[in-house]
Amino acid sequence: MPATSMEQLVALCKRRGFIFGSSSIYGGLQGFYDYGPMGVELKNQLKNTWWKDMVYARDDIEGIDTNLITNRVVLQHSGHEDTFTDPMIDCRACKARIRADFIENAKCIACGSEDLTEPRPFNLMFRTQVGPVVDDEALAYLRPETAQGIFTNFKNVMDSTVPKLPFGIAQMGKAFRNEITPRNFIFRVREFEQMEVEFFVKPGEDDKWHDYWVQQRHDWWLKQGLSKDNLVLEAQDKDELAHYSKATVDICYRFPHGLEELEGVANRTDYDLGSHTKNQDEFGITAKVLPNTDSTAKLAVQDIDTKKWFVPYVIEPSAGVDRGVLAVLAEAYTEETLENGETRTVLKLKPHLSPIKVAVIPLAKNKPELVALAKEITQILRGSIAGRVVLENSGNIGKNYRRHDEIGTPVCITVDFDTIAAADSKPEFKDTVTVRDRDTLKQDRVAIDELPNYLREKYFIY
Ligand code: GAP
Repeated sequence: MPATSMEQLVALCKRRGFIFGSSSIYGGLQGFYDYGPMGVELKNQLKNTWWKDMVYARDDIEGIDTNLITNRVVLQHSGHEDTFTDPMIDCRACKARIRADFIENAKCIACGSEDLTEPRPFNLMFRTQVGPVVDDEALAYLRPETAQGIFTNFKNVMDSTVPKLPFGIAQMGKAFRNEITPRNFIFRVREFEQMEVEFFVKPGEDDKWHDYWVQQRHDWWLKQGLSKDNLVLEAQDKDELAHYSKATVDICYRFPHGLEELEGVANRTDYDLGSHTKNQDEFGITAKVLPNTDSTAKLAVQDIDTKKWFVPYVIEPSAGVDRGVLAVLAEAYTEETLENGETRTVLKLKPHLSPIKVAVIPLAKNKPELVALAKEITQILRGSIAGRVVLENSGNIGKNYRRHDEIGTPVCITVDFDTIAAADSKPEFKDTVTVRDRDTLKQDRVAIDELPNYLREKYFIY
């Protein structure tokens, strides 16, 4: 059964080195988290899987990596400077600042007071300055979404890769929002990562591609181990839509704190390319965009048949990496009672996401032959598996199993005395090891030579 409370996950993440509160030795910084040794592996595997499936496995998407610090003009024309706001309420009693839609019963969520201000808009973008002079000219923003770097490079990518519509540009990386009320662990934070595709299509084909991407992305999350029952598609109401969107479907996950957005799939129409293009009047842009005399580039394509220039529509599947990590952890988290009555905590992660693929454990640490052979097997596997293989040499096999269950290692391999010199009663055990399955706890005896094949075929560990 998946995690039933956020506390379970927070405790496991700290105990096993997945996620720590940022600068916790100084009391922390609200809305910021650091990823530890296991967390960085899990996060990277999720991102690498996304990149492999979105870019490598397709002929119609190219990747890109753009700056975090963003020219203010970009975010003026994108509409973020004016409209990327949340309504904020101040509590006059305890001075807490709260996102207005988080307030129930007109009471402060921090102290319960009813002495609250009216809501007013608060812009979520982090400001910074570029260069040594502090003035309006130097103002820039940390990007609130990775998408804008894609739109402003649309022409560069078109010119350098000669794609034809429909085609997409993918980017993953950090985004920053000065959330009024960060909460629920890594669910709502102020610095996070996104995995976004901007998929450019002909106007008129946008609804069809929107449906396509909702389905694709829903199915992708299933492949990361999320269960069908915990994934729910929700079309946003008109009054919820972002300023650029004609329609958005949220892929929601049943997190321990409730059903909430994991990824949004938006139809951004010709709003963004239209906002950033020069000579806007020439293209019959349908979205309501700000006039633009700053841009030097024509972000339009020519219809092959009619030769008319037009601004493509864009469909945007936009996923949060951190919310993905949280969902995958919540789904994988399992507490089960063993036959001996003990409780076992285990992360039943899909092997391709597990931080460590294989742990090799010598049965006793004070037997040099066992340790030497375990080292040799570790080296063999490191040469044949792309993921991480570790040698555990603490000598306490029970402790090793508990740790690897909790970090989700699919396979533990134990080197024992029979491996080196099999007892007369079981000569076939010579040069074989015990392979323990994390989920079933079943143990197989496998020849050392056969290990890479066995892991590939049974666990899809490559
Ligand atoms: N480019 C479109 C865009 O940014 P969004 O719905 O604001 O749309 C996309 O964000 C995804 O980014 C969300 O579905 C969520 O997974 C993630 N996200 C947004 N704000 C976040 C926050 N404060 N903390 C963690 N993840 C966040």
